[in-house]
Amino acid sequence: MSALVFPHTFVPWFRAVAPYIHAYRGETFVVGVAGEAIAAGKLPVLAQDLALMHAMGIRIVLVHGFRPQVDEQLRLKNHPAKYHRGMRVTDAVALDSAQEAAGQLRFEIEAAFSQGLPNTPMANATLRVVSGNFLTAKPVGIVDGVDHEHSGFVRRVDATAMQGAMNAGALVLLSPFGFSPTGEAFNLMMEDVATETAIALQADKLIFLTEIDGVHEQPDDPASPIDTELALADAERYLRDWPEPRSATDRGFYLRYCVKACRAGVDRSHILPFAVDGALLQEVYTHDGIGTMLVDEKLESLREATSDDVSSLIALIEPFEREGMLVKRDRTEIERDIDHYTIVEHDGVIFGCAALYPYVQAGTAEMAALTVSPLSQGQGDGERLLKRIEQRAKAMGLKSIFVLTTRTMHWFIKRGFQVVDPDWLPEERKRKYNWDRRSVVMVKTL
Ligand SMILES: CC(C)(COP(=O)(O)OP(=O)(O)OC[C@H]1O[C@@H](n2cnc3c(N)ncnc32)[C@H](O)[C@@H]1OP(=O)(O)O)[C@@H](O)C(=O)NCCC(=O)NCCS
Repeated sequence: MSALVFPHTFVPWFRAVAPYIHAYRGETFVVGVAGEAIAAGKLPVLAQDLALMHAMGIRIVLVHGFRPQVDEQLRLKNHPAKYHRGMRVTDAVALDSAQEAAGQLRFEIEAAFSQGLPNTPMANATLRVVSGNFLTAKPVGIVDGVDHEHSGFVRRVDATAMQGAMNAGALVLLSPFGFSPTGEAFNLMMEDVATETAIALQADKLIFLTEIDGVHEQPDDPASPIDTELALADAERYLRDWPEPRSATDRGFYLRYCVKACRAGVDRSHILPFAVDGALLQEVYTHDGIGTMLVDEKLESLREATSDDVSSLIALIEPFEREGMLVKRDRTEIERDIDHYTIVEHDGVIFGCAALYPYVQAGTAEMAALTVSPLSQGQGDGERLLKRIEQRAKAMGLKSIFVLTTRTMHWFIKRGFQVVDPDWLPEERKRKYNWDRRSVVMVKTL
């Protein structure tokens, strides 16, 4: 059915997605997909979602897992699947099985990215998939007396070659296989490959599509909601307290890879359930997402604005100007005053701002254009912006800050502001005071 049948929902929805499309264009995401997702028949939809993200300018490395597929091959050969502490022990038969499974999966994945039937999301999609010997491996060796034979870890990732393929517009597909400098093949873990690749590329996101929903807010209570934004420090604490995970569904299995990536400079790592249709799109293109996003809190997200932020600021403020909550400011004025603005951003998208205009002689400053996007109001961003503006004013040696407001008096009263007569304003500001607007002047002593 045509989306235009629902213009009242389609248009606002599409516009709400726009900031994410702008923010992620040109960024690199490494997506690790559990073999279970492919066994569960999710490949065609996954290919559609990845092709859409690629079309919106995201550079993608896809790493597939193949645990159930290798186990299936071993079952057909009547050969036992051997694991030690959750890691496959790859004997000669298992190595053969892994090669067969990887060959089959690559074939299926390439086929999925080549669909182009009219009236499907893949119509008109032209996406080239490139794979190759991008990974060098080293043997796991003998652990607790168990020889892991052809099981390996990633030793080196050829980031330059992958960048070249992505520069040429391709999606890079990696199987969990690597070769040693002697030409020996090693069976790797999808999670290790995805993590090391994300680190080598200094990717913007590492995303695992998994059989679990994410990390729960009360990690010991699976009935508690999923923690959509987990701080690195909390994740590290969990991992210290939890027993070593032995299988992919054990607590902490994916999280430890996310923590490793985050510590090594990958801004964001995500754990998502493949069982939810469109999980990738929901996580990437909506504010709350669907799974757990691990963030290094240091990256969170109050900073002074730069000229690159002007368009985003206008988009943020404009609806409130139309409602009459904020005074109209044109682009030139914002461009000229950009140094006055502090912004709050989540995951690279701007969600709030405030500007500080000092009146040094009067020992005070105006906080103007305090705005938080309706998508993230009520989460403390307004308060954090206010605190930052207060710090900036204090650092300038000012004794108070003031605001002019028509509708937000109660918010400011709760935060220590008091109403004063407009005559209180510094002379220079009084001359610009719009007596028709009848804004209330409120002051907070610092
Ligand atoms: C005012 C504003 C910046 C607050 O941002 P925020 O991130 O939602 O603020 P916080 O999360 O720190 O605080 C939320 C609390 O403020 C309350 N609040 C929000 N707007 C309010 C208002 N206009 N009057 C009184 N209280 C308000 C919320 O109900 C919530 O209360 P609770 O904690 O008791 O549930 C935001 O609502 C906004 O952008 N408003 C429109 C623009 C505007 O009026 N700016 C001020 C111009 S002077």
